[in-house]
Amino acid sequence: MDGGPGVQLLAETPVPAFSRLEARLSQVPAALRAPAPSGGYIIGVATLAKRRKSSLAVEQEYDRIAHRYERRWAHYVQATVSKTLAHLDLQPTMRLLDIGCGTGVLLREAERACPGIAAVGIDLSRAMLTVARRGLPRTTPLLRANAEELPFRTARFHVVVSSSSFHFWPNPSLALEEIARVLLPGGLLVLTDWCDDFLACRVWDRVLRVINPAHQRIYSQDQFHALLSEHGYRVRVLELYKVSWLWGMMTASAVPE
Ligand SMILES: C[S@@+](CC[C@H](N)C(=O)[O-])C[C@H]1O[C@@H](n2cnc3c(N)ncnc32)[C@H](O)[C@@H]1O
Repeated sequence: MDGGPGVQLLAETPVPAFSRLEARLSQVPAALRAPAPSGGYIIGVATLAKRRKSSLAVEQEYDRIAHRYERRWAHYVQATVSKTLAHLDLQPTMRLLDIGCGTGVLLREAERACPGIAAVGIDLSRAMLTVARRGLPRTTPLLRANAEELPFRTARFHVVVSSSSFHFWPNPSLALEEIARVLLPGGLLVLTDWCDDFLACRVWDRVLRVINPAHQRIYSQDQFHALLSEHGYRVRVLELYKVSWLWGMMTASAVPE
C-alpha cells in the first residue's frame, strides 16, 4: 500500500494503541462479515461494487484538492468543526475517532483543547491524510480506511465524530452499524453534515447528485433523526444552523442503545 509520505497506514505502521487483530479484522469486508439475509451474498457483492465506485470518486476528488482544501474552505471548515466540537465534553482519558478527518482540522483542535486525548483519524484520500500528517504529532494515528469498514476492534472509542463527510457515504446503514460497533457502551456519535431543510443546500445537493459521482445525498432533519433511530441510536440533540448563505448545516449527537 502506498500511503504517500508521512501517512501512517495500519498495515505498514503498527500503532501501539491498536492491535494486529484490528488490522486482520479490516481485511474482512463488513458487508460480508454481517449475518447474511436470504440472497446475502448477492447483496454483499452489490454493496461492495457500489462502495468501490464511490470510494474511487471520493479519492480522486480529494486527492486533487487536498493541497488547497483548508485555504479554500477556511471559514466553512472552522465553523463546522467548532460546532461539532461544541457537542463534546472532551477528557484526556478519551479515545476519539474522526471519520473523514480530511486535513485533520478537527483532530488538531481536539488535541489542542484536550492534551492527552487519544485521537485517531481515518479518510479515503491519501493526499488529505498527507496534509493532515504535517499538522499533527507523529503519535496521532492516521489511517486510510472507509467509514463503512472501520479497521478497529469492537467497543474501542468513547467518541466518534464526522464532519462534512456523511453525504459521501453510499451505504450510511453500514457505516452507522460500524460506528455503533466501535463505540464503547454509552459512547457518543457526533455527526455534522449539510441539511436538506435549507433551500440552497437542497438545490446544490440535487445538482451534485447528477454531476458529481462522489456525492451521494443529504438528509432533512426528520430524515436524519429517523435514520439514526432506525439504527438503534438515541438522538440527544439535533441542531440546525447556517454557516453562510449556501451552507445550511445540522449536527446530531446520538448514543447507540
Ligand atoms: C468535505 S471533506 C471534510 C474533511 C474534514 N472532516 C473537515 O471537516 O474539514 C470530506 C472528507 O471525507 C472523506 N470521505 C468521504 N467518504 C469517505 C468514506 N466513506 N470513508 C472515509 N472518508 C471519507 C473525503 O476523502 C474527505 O476528506
